[in-house]
Amino acid sequence: MDSDNFKDFAKEMAEYITNYMQNIRDRRVLPTVEPGYMKPLLPSEAPQSPEEWKDIMADIERVIMPGVTHWHSPKFHAYFPTAQSYPAIVADMLSGAIACVGFSWIASPACTELEVIMLDWLGKMIDLPKEFLACSGGKGGGVIQGTASEASLVALLGAKAKKLKQVKEQHPEWTNPEIIDKLIAYCSCQAHSSVERAGLFGGVKFRLLPVDEKCKLRGDVLAKAIQEDKEKGLIPFYVVATLGTTVSCAFDRLDEMGVVANREDVWLHVDAAYAGSAFICPEYRYLMKGIELADSYNFNPHKWMLVNFDCSAMWLKDPTYVINAFNVDPLYLKYDTQGSAPDYRHWQIPLGRRFRSLKLWFVLRLYGIENLQKYIRKHIAQAHEFEAMVLTDPRFEIVAEVLMGLVCFRLKGSNDLNEALLKRINGAGNIHLVPSKINDMFFLRLSICSRYSESKDIEYSWKEIKLRANEVLEEQSVSK
Ligand SMILES: Cc1ncc(COP(=O)(O)O)c(C=O)c1O
Repeated sequence: MDSDNFKDFAKEMAEYITNYMQNIRDRRVLPTVEPGYMKPLLPSEAPQSPEEWKDIMADIERVIMPGVTHWHSPKFHAYFPTAQSYPAIVADMLSGAIACVGFSWIASPACTELEVIMLDWLGKMIDLPKEFLACSGGKGGGVIQGTASEASLVALLGAKAKKLKQVKEQHPEWTNPEIIDKLIAYCSCQAHSSVERAGLFGGVKFRLLPVDEKCKLRGDVLAKAIQEDKEKGLIPFYVVATLGTTVSCAFDRLDEMGVVANREDVWLHVDAAYAGSAFICPEYRYLMKGIELADSYNFNPHKWMLVNFDCSAMWLKDPTYVINAFNVDPLYLKYDTQGSAPDYRHWQIPLGRRFRSLKLWFVLRLYGIENLQKYIRKHIAQAHEFEAMVLTDPRFEIVAEVLMGLVCFRLKGSNDLNEALLKRINGAGNIHLVPSKINDMFFLRLSICSRYSESKDIEYSWKEIKLRANEVLEEQSVSK
């Protein structure tokens, strides 16, 4: 493809994308295809001779779109949002053009330096304690991971390296496998599965702790678990506090957990994957009270801050343990000024890394903090609008406090009834929701996801839910 062809292709694609976004409401949010739908639509082998880019454009509607779940439709309310915006799309184009692999400073200085500065900008936007920021001149700093799952694993491996070193100093006769066998980590039973999975990757025990009636992990529960485990000869080394659980968007008591973790010399990691974006609004920062007690903090601008996947922001107060845990320094990666800027390959699992900070830079500049705040506040306001609608109908109940853009609700009645309701809603395909469970109680989650979401969309979704509830309840009364 030559430059002129590229310009035409890119222009046509920009046209297609804007059309797609402007009319996304008109598409059925859930596809109707069956597994294997694509095979008959494509040749079984790659073409021997080049095709025209126009042939590809023609195939997007024929091959791809029938199998797309439209995550950016205002009718999509499943999971948590995944971010998307024009500035981030354009930044990804530039990243694709520069196509550097920024594993060390010298591998592309701009890639590292913009990331350091963007993580400082972002850290200041959520009022992180200065110990986390590179600009404070201390050890701390930020890094862009691919996902929150990677951040939990990186923090766990850093914590493991730190504890190994400490225990070795006290018990030089103990072998590494002996110490690792005693290590134990903690999180709430409502933490994301990736947190527990990090324990599997790290080869350590993980204990899932019970939560209070508001689904929060409390300090006294953590303290008791640590005490019990120490009495058994185990070595507590890592705890994760979740701010905004996937199950119901509950917030662990970071302030209480932090006191315990610091007292017991246990690494405290904070997973605020979804809700962390809300802390750019000062009125929500009470939910991150105790952040100064954490060792590492993570949230995903790629969920709720208009930066396309993947962009998971992580800060470490003292990255030394992570750096040492991952430090393998072959000759071909050495360079003269090594040590004066971060070599991000030591802060992450893979070696390779894209120029992801460009999309953060573009989004922060082209929206400005004030519009990002408006965006968060609008989603939260819409969640409250939906909550109010649910509360007007005595057949329904709200099952968790609505603090962010997620509403957990159900029909009063059995789990079976609510499962039938969800099946009917998703079967109709006009809106898309996923379920969740707390203490064996099945409920539906309505998450405000789209950057196009307006009050009229919330009204539409509520009408659709009521319609399907009428059908299910009618069916139930007929079968009785
Ligand atoms: C609280 C929480 N933690 C972690 C994750 C995993 O995020 P990622 O896909 O970035 O690994 C999620 C995903 O929704 C989440 O809600």
